[in-house]
Amino acid sequence: MSEATSQNWAQSLPLLISEAELGLPVLSGALGWAGSWLPAVREVMDLGSGAGVLTLALAEAFGRARVTAVDGTPELLEAVTARAREAGLDERVRTALRDLPGGVADLPAADLVWASQVVHHLPDPVRALEIFGDRLTPAGVLLVREGGLPTRFLPDGEYPGLLARLEAAVEQRASGLANPAGLVTPRGAWPDLIRRAGLKHLGSSTFVTEVQAPVPEGTRTALARRLGMFTTFAGDLLSAADREAIGELVDPGSPRGVLRREDLYVLAAGTVHAARRARP
Ligand SMILES: C[S@@+](CC[C@H](N)C(=O)[O-])C[C@H]1O[C@@H](n2cnc3c(N)ncnc32)[C@H](O)[C@@H]1O
Repeated sequence: MSEATSQNWAQSLPLLISEAELGLPVLSGALGWAGSWLPAVREVMDLGSGAGVLTLALAEAFGRARVTAVDGTPELLEAVTARAREAGLDERVRTALRDLPGGVADLPAADLVWASQVVHHLPDPVRALEIFGDRLTPAGVLLVREGGLPTRFLPDGEYPGLLARLEAAVEQRASGLANPAGLVTPRGAWPDLIRRAGLKHLGSSTFVTEVQAPVPEGTRTALARRLGMFTTFAGDLLSAADREAIGELVDPGSPRGVLRREDLYVLAAGTVHAARRARP
């Protein structure tokens, strides 16, 4: 396993689950959008599957396909297996413990390769896209979820500008990091990176996740985890006043905390880029 994967993904399991749940509308929107490009889908690969929320959604969307969840963290793949068993999908969902990107080389070619929010963790995104594209069947499609818009969930006038300042801090911290610290900021627009990988860019589109207030408890928990993750990553770059405000938002006992508020909503947008082999 690379040093990149030894970044503690296993510890992030609850966060990975709640983030993926918030991303489900992006996956379903993308599958509808890309449907006309897809061949008959019998083999699917979910690269950087995390705990398998999206893997299972793929298995449900393609009822005749085998879906392989590929990840470098054994604990996450165990979670995929458990989820698949619970959902009665274990006959069609399997896992492969692999270091990305190179580890996919011995896996069967897939009609759909789904890579959600993983390529930006790999040291050379263009090379990774090239390797992933190599695992496509001749008419197969690679869908890469990367980019979009920052998530909004606080009502207007509440903590003005706080989330934007937190995101700027995260961006600042990330731009100073290089793999194996776990995050690479690819230089160039994704369609361009796809073309540089020798693939044909079919299109890119953005899909919205929208949950109106009051959001369910699970969504509030997801938002609290997300705030916690960003704060751990870059909170030290914020002012004392902003850190105090975030402390209040993540405080489970505070009536102003996200776990207890009835006025939160979720508005998020994720972009998906579609590609196929330049020559079938
Ligand atoms: C941000 S999570 C994305 C999870 C899921 N695809 C989603 O969109 O919700 C990134 C995942 O990629 C995996 N990962 C990161 N770098 C990897 C590498 N070099 N080899 C294998 N897996 C890796 C992590 O273990 C983690 O599960």
